[in-house]
Amino acid sequence: MAIHLCSHPLAQHLLTGLRSTETNPQHFRPLARRLTTLLALEATADLPTMASPITTPLEPMEGQVLAHGIVVIPILRAGLAMLEPFLELFPDVSVGYIGLERDHATAVAASYYCKLPQVQGCTTLVVDPMLATGGSAGQAIDHVKAAGATDVRLVCVVAAPEGVAAVEAAHPDVPIYAAALDRELNAKKYICPGLGDFGDRLYGTL
Ligand code: URA
Repeated sequence: MAIHLCSHPLAQHLLTGLRSTETNPQHFRPLARRLTTLLALEATADLPTMASPITTPLEPMEGQVLAHGIVVIPILRAGLAMLEPFLELFPDVSVGYIGLERDHATAVAASYYCKLPQVQGCTTLVVDPMLATGGSAGQAIDHVKAAGATDVRLVCVVAAPEGVAAVEAAHPDVPIYAAALDRELNAKKYICPGLGDFGDRLYGTL
């Protein structure tokens, strides 16, 4: 499976807070931000750098800077929770938005918004906290590839085996970064044990 699980112990600590029903939106939001910081570092650990000659206060040297641009694309609305940590780590990122809404009866996602920056030549990180069926993620990746993205990565908080398999089948070149690979989807396509509806937990719309 093309899934990379975050190995830092802090990731499990933060995820446990997110999973707990005792965590209210006020505490859920900072936990999500801190966990996304770890995931963002993991998902970008192999970015290429290039030489950049600089002068320190003591002498000239050859520094290293990131070799190409980064694009972050949150899938609305839950993906918004994961945007800010990327902006903090990589202030130069370009941001796109893809709006996909899951029909609660069929669990099928429909696209209602897509605004993408220039993606050619960039590393494009699609961010969506819950990889359940893989329908939304697969559609979002279709959009960014159609716009010319070649180095595409998917960053989520919790993944289900069904979602990983679907993304892997449709987009075998796209690595998935997550804090946990959970057991399964239930009949309503929620991830178990999961954390419930991420967007509802985040915005208090339960
Ligand atoms: N979306 C969520 O927010 N939670 C799930 O368990 C599945 C999809």
